Amino acid sequence: GFDFSSMTRPELFEFEGISMVHYFTDDWENVQNFQARPDDILVATYPKAGTTWVSYILDLLYFGNTAPERQTSIPIYLRVPFLEAVIPSLRTGVELANNLPTTPRLIKTHLPVQLVPKSFWEQNCRVIYVARNAKDNAVSYFHFDRMNHAEPDPGDWSNFLQMFMDGKNVFGPWYDHVRGYWKKKQTYSNLHYMFFEDMVENTDREVENLCSFLGLTTSSEERERITKNVHFDAMKQNRMTNYSTIPVMNFSVSPFMRKGKVGDWKKHFTVAENEKFDKHYEEKMKNTTLKFRTQI
Ligand code: A3P
Repeated sequence: GFDFSSMTRPELFEFEGISMVHYFTDDWENVQNFQARPDDILVATYPKAGTTWVSYILDLLYFGNTAPERQTSIPIYLRVPFLEAVIPSLRTGVELANNLPTTPRLIKTHLPVQLVPKSFWEQNCRVIYVARNAKDNAVSYFHFDRMNHAEPDPGDWSNFLQMFMDGKNVFGPWYDHVRGYWKKKQTYSNLHYMFFEDMVENTDREVENLCSFLGLTTSSEERERITKNVHFDAMKQNRMTNYSTIPVMNFSVSPFMRKGKVGDWKKHFTVAENEKFDKHYEEKMKNTTLKFRTQI
């Protein structure tokens, strides 16, 4: 097993206007100069919004029929490289992306919209953004930071929640992130904005909408096969999608596939925290048409 004690938690620092850790800035020049191709598909998210779920759906849509061995032998984080990541014992995200043998290349990023490498916009690449309501997103991020030694130590829940509200998380404020891509969508038509809550409510419908954005036609049988494969329980059992093969994560603290629910925040927020959060949220999210559901 991986020796977590040998890996000290990284420090949070200000970088290009957001909070970051060095694991996502170490390769900055190569990230910013990344050469996108017109058929690349970028999956952009704030961490813990459903990145892996949508990545796996895309992988099955494009390669599920033609490359079945891909599903059983290559972990999802190598099939859909994390562009800005420089994780111990893995090749850099840029190297992985540049060495993808398949077309289209599926590429993941957590960068806020203003830091996405220019080339993606210049090439008019399709961009799929997945957003998740702030409360569940915060809870999921808290448990992730507890188990992931490439993240700063989150402290206790109340400490983490304050950090979240202050935007002091890796990849910066959730509020600016979700709003940034929402605004981008007004001028960049190749952006498909999805919600985690919609996916939980009706995965098949969301896959169908995704397909129509991508210009793919799928039969209802094919979609049924995909929705079965990407069900939370199936992905949790699947070693190629549950992150159990990656170093740096300590599954004895919390699994990567933790709950996959809408509304788990109710088990974490105290009444006082919830009131404070709502007030702050209203301030942060005023003057936007972007609306989230915190329960379904
Ligand atoms: P929880 O911690 O709330 O369980 P990301 O892939 O962006 O890191 O997001 C991870 C979150 O998405 C985790 O949330 C994880 O359980 C959830 N998730 C991943 N696959 C899922 C699926 N197939 N169905 C529902 N939730 C899923």
